[in-house]
Amino acid sequence: MAKYRIAWMPGDGIGQDVMEAAHIVLDKIGLDAEYPPADIGWEFWRSEGDALPQRTIDLLRTCQCALFGAITSKPKEEAAAELTPDLRGKGLSYRSPIVRLRQLFDLYINLRPCKAYPGNPLNYREGIDLVVFRENTEDLYAGVEFHPLPPDVRAALEARSPAMEAFRSTPSEDIALSCRILTRRGCQRIVRAAFAYARDRGYSSVTLVEKPNVVRETSGLITREARKIATEFPTIPLWEANVDAMTMWLVKNPKEYGVLVTTNLFGDIISDLAAQLVGGLGFASSGNIGDGFAVFEPTHGSAPKYAGKHKVNPIATFLAVKLMLSWLGEADKAAALERAVAGVIAEGRVRTYDMGGESGTLEMARAVAERL
Ligand code: NAI
Ligand code: MG
Repeated sequence: MAKYRIAWMPGDGIGQDVMEAAHIVLDKIGLDAEYPPADIGWEFWRSEGDALPQRTIDLLRTCQCALFGAITSKPKEEAAAELTPDLRGKGLSYRSPIVRLRQLFDLYINLRPCKAYPGNPLNYREGIDLVVFRENTEDLYAGVEFHPLPPDVRAALEARSPAMEAFRSTPSEDIALSCRILTRRGCQRIVRAAFAYARDRGYSSVTLVEKPNVVRETSGLITREARKIATEFPTIPLWEANVDAMTMWLVKNPKEYGVLVTTNLFGDIISDLAAQLVGGLGFASSGNIGDGFAVFEPTHGSAPKYAGKHKVNPIATFLAVKLMLSWLGEADKAAALERAVAGVIAEGRVRTYDMGGESGTLEMARAVAERL
């Protein structure tokens, strides 16, 4: 039996292209692993009414982690219209398989490293090395939302919050409410993970990116917890920045920051900004990590117009493989893969279209494999 079982989830569109490239690279690395394929994505929504079938969840429970390409998702009405005829009108509703995986396996860390590899023509500036820790399960993404505002919810809010006075004359059907929910445990575990990462990888600071001066209760909670947790890591300073100011600082002085830690929505925004500083979607990888399971992926979507054309940049997926190897404890293999990717970028002979070149997805994979 192989040492690792890694669920293989190419998904839709270019997810298939980049995972084919990942296979070439993984074969060369010689990881002692088996890769059982798992069904996920639009095809299974259309034909079965479920983009994440139960058999996939069962299979994932037999694996240490999963490697995931990308999926297609569409708005509610379009999704319903694309179901096969026998599934229509049954009240099925599309749910994002990624969001479900995060919830099912409590993948509370969204890890998004953003490093400027020397020679990447897309680098905004050389020397950038940021790592975003985004809380992945709470905040505005928890799904506690109302529209119209139900009378009992409204009554409770009006009884409890003087600030509701501002909405006194607005009818409930004209009010939409999305709740920002943070828990002490949720705050503690993401901040602790960020500090531990900074300590283990030699980053010199952790910056908490929030807005406690305005969003007093939620941002206040994570700020207080972060200050406490910082005392467990006396060698690493905790910096605090407001999220709006941070977008400016990241553009002005991106090299001054190391690990950034934040909540779900702010993290979504900050990590896209950080990714674009070092090459954008062709370079942006992420790990969705819990205590017992993890899903690694490039952050881009299925880019339907390039599907099957073997044109897009697989480096984001290779960097996701690198994250996976290091999470599995295969530090040497992770480092070797990163060196090979960095070598190909620095050499500049093989470049995909986003880097200004004409090489294809599999050419890039072979160039990385050769260096390995
Ligand atoms: P997208 O990320 O699929 O592509 C946007 C554009 O970025 C592409 O047209 C292409 O020009 C460029 N691009 C993306 N990946 C690239 C790569 N590896 N190399 C070079 N260029 C690359 O986003 P879009 O078009 O908004 O969404 C397409 C579908 O993907 C939608 O159905 C959307 O819901 C889904 N999606 C899925 C995600 C996931 O699986 N995690 C994330 C984002 C979108
Ligand atoms: Mg996003």
